[in-house]
Amino acid sequence: MSSSQPIDSILHETRLFKPPAAGEVGFDAWHVGSAQAYKDLHARSIADPEGFWRDEASRVSWLKPFDRVLEWQAPDARWFVGGRLNACHNCVDRHVDAGFGNETALIWEGEPVAGGGPEVRRLTYEQLRAQTARLGNVLKGLGVKKGDVVTIYMPMVPELAVAILACARIGAAHSVIFGGFAHTAIGERVIDADSRVIITADGGYRRGEVVPLLKNVEAAISLLDSQGHALRDVVVLERTGHVKGAQRFASGQTCGASARLHWWHDLTGAAGEDCPCTPMESEDMLFLLYTSGSTGKPKGIVHTTGGYLTFVQMTARLAFNLSPGAGQIFWCSADIGWVTGHSYVLYGILMNRVPTLMYEGAPNFPANDRFWEIIARHKVTQFYTAPTAIRTFMKWGHELPEKHNLSSLRVLGTVGEPINPEAWIWYHTHIGGGRCPIVDTYWQTETGGHVCTPLPGAIATKPGSCTLPMPGIDAAVVNEQGEEIGANRGGLFVIRKPWPGMLRGVFGNRERFISNYWGRVKDPATGEPYYFSADGARRDEDGYFWIQGRIDDVIKVSGHLLGTMEVESALVSHPYVAEAAVVGFPHEIKGNAICAFVTLKSRWKTEHPGRVPDDALKAELTAHVAREVGALAKPEVIRFAEGLPKTRSGKIMRRLLRDIACGVEKITQDTTTLEDFSVVAALRGDDE
Ligand code: WTA
Repeated sequence: MSSSQPIDSILHETRLFKPPAAGEVGFDAWHVGSAQAYKDLHARSIADPEGFWRDEASRVSWLKPFDRVLEWQAPDARWFVGGRLNACHNCVDRHVDAGFGNETALIWEGEPVAGGGPEVRRLTYEQLRAQTARLGNVLKGLGVKKGDVVTIYMPMVPELAVAILACARIGAAHSVIFGGFAHTAIGERVIDADSRVIITADGGYRRGEVVPLLKNVEAAISLLDSQGHALRDVVVLERTGHVKGAQRFASGQTCGASARLHWWHDLTGAAGEDCPCTPMESEDMLFLLYTSGSTGKPKGIVHTTGGYLTFVQMTARLAFNLSPGAGQIFWCSADIGWVTGHSYVLYGILMNRVPTLMYEGAPNFPANDRFWEIIARHKVTQFYTAPTAIRTFMKWGHELPEKHNLSSLRVLGTVGEPINPEAWIWYHTHIGGGRCPIVDTYWQTETGGHVCTPLPGAIATKPGSCTLPMPGIDAAVVNEQGEEIGANRGGLFVIRKPWPGMLRGVFGNRERFISNYWGRVKDPATGEPYYFSADGARRDEDGYFWIQGRIDDVIKVSGHLLGTMEVESALVSHPYVAEAAVVGFPHEIKGNAICAFVTLKSRWKTEHPGRVPDDALKAELTAHVAREVGALAKPEVIRFAEGLPKTRSGKIMRRLLRDIACGVEKITQDTTTLEDFSVVAALRGDDE
């Protein structure tokens, strides 16, 4: 954990937006329609958690009822013990069984726009059932068993939803890797999860270009081979059709040492549609999702079945006021490769039987108003996106959304990073027509779903605040001793009681699970550990939460979590780099951007006599990081230094580097363009 500390209040935002009446935005009613109703619900959930969560769990379809709501031996929770259920059954089959097989479950729009407009596909619950059953049979045929981990590396196409749900259907856990990650990230995650099967596609479309997913998987396979990890099967969806001629493989062909490649269409074409949903124990693993940590290797966050489903159906319903059969169309623009896509493109929305919209591509293809055009054409009612996207839309101008009829919208959501009040007001005014409430949802991969958010019909909002905890969430801002602190003082964001959507572990790493989340803050009275989110926060005089961001060495870039260590390791793997330190600095659009401080090996000088480190070298290092980690990890700024400032004990002085990156500290620049940070360090006499 780095030594940075949360800060006391700086922003003082006083504007207050009252929740509209349900009818004003087009709902029949709010699920929670007044501040008092929220208060009562939250108070009940804290006073009688078992009763509260038992009621919520009754909205989940159980194949065998549970015996006990919770067994809690901190930090280990077992929810809905004795119950059996299946996640695919809950999202798909039960709606078919209830007579809604012909209703639309998923609306998908591809990125390319040909003469006749974009490709749009609609899948009903019955079609989803049939497709997940076919792929479920395919996976079983490839030897996938209950409890195995299947890796999924796909573009945003309906088959990605099918792949995820098919795994759930047969009791395999899925581990989805964001399509923007490079082959090393795939290799690392496949090994950590001990996964033997990958589902991928030939490519995906992004900003009019083809992202070569299969090529990245092939590169990952050579990496896996070199590390002795025998991958067994790769199922390849044909999406872009750019793998042609001699490069085209025949299903069953080997790639690398042991992996067999299969075309998705060959296998599913031959598979039957009868594949019953496997009954799972409530605590059986549903999925693994890797997230960046402060110490290098990404962590495989473990979520289990009964608790996760209970939590996401509730948070989706309450935060977005979802109701089935009421003409709602929900669109979350996040990629399914992130937790937001898991919980609020798929599970939470499908559980509520509201059609979920999935868009394949970029917001600026073919033009900068693509999102508004999609909302108008599909009559989206709830829209959920990230502050970094909103800031980009602001830059493109309000004239673009004004060209489209956005009157179908009822609730707007944001997620992933703190939203600055200007962006909030712009979203409210230009997208929400001043009418739609904004739900600023604060949560994490680890929490499974929203933990703090205004309920749209109940809570008055303040731009930049995620307001109040979800019912069932005992959130607080505390000091290092675990004591709740006064208004407008910076502290640690903790959750004091277990909740069903909480992570159950870090895959294969018990020690990291305990030390990362449960090791820092305790209940001062009982000594029981609190869940610590690694975010700093404050509460204002109304008890509203204001998230101040990470206080560990993890940076949110454009809403994507990145460990500084991941980027540093990528940099030092370059033959010219001796040492690297990576810090975040505030960025107008991205929220935070990466600044890398780099020292070079003498080899650089020997091989480039007379040349100073220049833009060409910067470009080379940037491309190297993109290749090793993915484009999202590219440093915004690279600064070359003679040496990095260190404490007497040899630790890199990150706080000083952060200040330099933010322009708080000036440094003396010498003529060789190599900066000398030791001067500032000496001036400061800092010992972090
Ligand atoms: C940050 C994304 C402020 C926070 C769902 C958290 C936010 C990290 C918000 C988790 C928000 C997410 N306001 N900060 N509304 N939502 N964060 O795991 O720092 O990708 O710890 O999950 O995002 O990122 P993750």
